[in-house]
Amino acid sequence: MKNYVYIVECSDGTWYTGWTNDIEKRLKAHNSGHGAKYTRARRPVRLIYTEEYDTPKEAQRREYALKQLTRRQKEQLVCGSGQEMHRSRDTQRTDTGKEDRKMNVEQFFDQVLTVRLTPDRQAIDIIDQTLLPGTIRRINLETKEEIWEAIKKLRVRGAPAIGITAAYGMAVLSSRIQAQDYDSFYREFSELKEYLASSRPTAVNLFWALNRMDDCLQKAASDGRSLDEIREILYTEAEAIRDEDVQISRNIGEIGFGLLKDLKKADRPVGILTHCNAGTLATGKYGTATAPMYIALEQGWAGDDMHVYCDETRPLLQGARLTSFELSSAGITTTVQCDNMASLLMKSGKIDIIFVGCDRVAANGDAANKIGTSGLAILAKHYGIPFYVCAPTSTIDRSTPTGEQIPIEMRDPDEVTQMWYSERMAPQGIDVFNPAFDVTDHSLITGMITEKGLCTDPFDKDFDKYGI
Ligand code: MRU
Repeated sequence: MKNYVYIVECSDGTWYTGWTNDIEKRLKAHNSGHGAKYTRARRPVRLIYTEEYDTPKEAQRREYALKQLTRRQKEQLVCGSGQEMHRSRDTQRTDTGKEDRKMNVEQFFDQVLTVRLTPDRQAIDIIDQTLLPGTIRRINLETKEEIWEAIKKLRVRGAPAIGITAAYGMAVLSSRIQAQDYDSFYREFSELKEYLASSRPTAVNLFWALNRMDDCLQKAASDGRSLDEIREILYTEAEAIRDEDVQISRNIGEIGFGLLKDLKKADRPVGILTHCNAGTLATGKYGTATAPMYIALEQGWAGDDMHVYCDETRPLLQGARLTSFELSSAGITTTVQCDNMASLLMKSGKIDIIFVGCDRVAANGDAANKIGTSGLAILAKHYGIPFYVCAPTSTIDRSTPTGEQIPIEMRDPDEVTQMWYSERMAPQGIDVFNPAFDVTDHSLITGMITEKGLCTDPFDKDFDKYGI
């Protein structure tokens, strides 16, 4: 029996790579949605590339290697193979300008891919976000200390990206556990898990991802899997967490785009305000708060059909350094303002809607996000501007009853007093208040966009409705 590694092009222009021993059956599955959950929302798909292998193992290895390639590398492979005649005529079209734009955004996503495994799966390859926007440099995280430090120091940051990194970290580190029996293996796994969990306290995705890896390990053990099989299963689970995140943020984007469409005006762009970076750099692909904007581009909006105002986001400047970099690179009209300018901006009538991300949402809908978010929500209420929190369900923590119980990370005073200045800007030894997050009261939130649907106050009822 032959084994195939294949690439299909989905209805939205994205590509999906898989392997199968029955290509016809698999295509039917993709196009009917049964048993092909990652492409279900992107049907129909078209086969654009195949390779044949004698054994499933060879095909799986090749599938894995292909999944590590950037979109541009995959395009070179597909074009070079002469198989591109399978590609849909619609997506090869470049005369409308719409497809060109879509390609540019896709290329940008490839260029700044936040986190992935190295091809030998022995390290995590991240874009070092502390160097952006001036330098795009990728670094490998090999040891548990390097992974911990990268999360702590915000080399990789944003709730979903932290979760993905932790999941990859557990897979990489577990592959090196030498233990010969399950109990010793699990003891070491638990120590590593606890260590990574200590890197940052607020984003619940970190703990969610670590617990999911733990559950997966325990299930595999109770199914009687060997330690070697368990090591492999952990890699698969980490990849699933990443792949699901891409789909989740896409769903959030589609719901958010529905809101944007209703605001579209003939005479001026839709004004959007965002805080911190809940963008592609913070997730597997589309971001959460930025996803509606990227979907808008895909749907044919021009970059100047919207105008995104990015709060600078003191003290670590995620808005100025990361969000404005992302959005302007994708061709979206972008302005940066200091955090304390948001009130004037809202008063001027330029802001139609606010999208922010979140790091942990309590059971009652109180939402922790980057420091400064709750102030924006209060201002938005004053000016009557809709305020939406974009929340993957992995960020909703129903075991935390209200925002009061969300632990808030306190960070190094130097981030406030000297980090961005050529000389210190506050007296030596001055007391500094530097919380990384605040909690927006649920009553200030117009809606919470999850991948399952839009939730409104009382949030717990909607969380129940969507099975969150
Ligand atoms: O300290 P950071 O940069 O990790 O804070 C990030 C945020 O506050 C984001 O808004 C949040 O994690 C959501 S990312 C989709």
